[in-house]
Amino acid sequence: MLKNAIVGQSGGPTSVINASLAGVFKTARDLGLTHIYGMRNGIEGLLSERYVDLGDYIKNDVDIELLKGTPSAFLGSCRYKLPHLDKDEDIYKKLFGILEKLDIGYFFYIGGNDSMDTIAQLALYAERINSEIRFIGVPKTIDNDLVITDHTPGFGSAAKYVATSIKEIIRDGRVYDNNAVSIIEIMGRDAGWLTGSAALSTGPDCSGPDLIYLPEIVFDVDSFISRVEEVQRARRSVIVCVSEGIRTSDGNYVCEYTHDASRTIDAFGHKQLTGTARVLGDVVKERLGCKVRAIEFSLLQRCAAHMQSETDVKEAFHVGVAAARAAMDGETGKVIIIKREGEEPYQSTMGSCDVHLIANYKKDVPREWINEAGDYVLEEFISYARPLISGETTPVVVNGLPRHIENI
Ligand code: F6P
Repeated sequence: MLKNAIVGQSGGPTSVINASLAGVFKTARDLGLTHIYGMRNGIEGLLSERYVDLGDYIKNDVDIELLKGTPSAFLGSCRYKLPHLDKDEDIYKKLFGILEKLDIGYFFYIGGNDSMDTIAQLALYAERINSEIRFIGVPKTIDNDLVITDHTPGFGSAAKYVATSIKEIIRDGRVYDNNAVSIIEIMGRDAGWLTGSAALSTGPDCSGPDLIYLPEIVFDVDSFISRVEEVQRARRSVIVCVSEGIRTSDGNYVCEYTHDASRTIDAFGHKQLTGTARVLGDVVKERLGCKVRAIEFSLLQRCAAHMQSETDVKEAFHVGVAAARAAMDGETGKVIIIKREGEEPYQSTMGSCDVHLIANYKKDVPREWINEAGDYVLEEFISYARPLISGETTPVVVNGLPRHIENI
């Protein structure tokens, strides 16, 4: 069955999501497919028949290499939740009509746990109507919160950016001999993997951050303030890393303790989280009266392609390769997973798993990898994350700046 393929990108981008697109494209091409289409803005764009023939854009190996080093989503992304197929079958009829018109045999969706729900629904519908189209999920998320896979592409590079930037902030943050608190806000809505990776900055030349707060642990403002005071008795400048998703015992996000009530809510019902460091900075200023800096890494941490981890780029490419091969070997309703095969040297292989075991589930940082006080990660976390940030890529530089391939 040599038909055409279509690939889409969904959810928050990463600095290596395009490497997965490159992996799918190159492999599908090498395996003989003529048309590999790209959905513009994921499934949402496909529903309005917005797609391109990727062969018009990716013409040679140089384009493949540029794609690997270009952050954000080349095809554009979306946060779009397909309705359950028993609730609105028309939308599925429409989608399958578009796929048939393009003579699609293989459908790939690069995304996180919400996006895998799209693969799950589409695979179920295909089974219901006896469609032969094969649906494969390609994992990505800086949040690293997909279950079963050892980790997700995108996390390693974001973690490398976070750890490097924290190291630099610690250098700068300790230049004055006065009391100061720097609070750094790191992404990862419900899981603390990326925030925890701030601890990777610790080494012979860096003491690492003083406190790290993950969403897995209920946040208590009073104990936070007393911990800051305690650290400040030993060193005047305190560095605190907080996840954007930390919540107090009533279930509210810390960032909601602000006068700004207008928060964007996406199709999956997620509130936009931002401002946690600012809220805590105000509390520190009010209670301790010292100098405060609130730093939000925001988009920088997920688009920092200048800080890509080589391991991450390679794995991101290989999940794309594995997805194309799996689909053409007849698999459907699956997600590609990464299996850790060895520690020293670090090694991984690709596998696949039923999408229903992954879609809509979330992997937390294990409680045993967090200290008892709930304000730092332990050695187990460091050993897990360290190999994922290893290796550097060499960007194509033109006029002193990295060269990207422009988004469609
Ligand atoms: O996709 C994961 C993520 O980067 C989260 O860490 C963050 O909370 C969210 O996306 C931000 O989403 P958006 O780009 O839609 O604001």
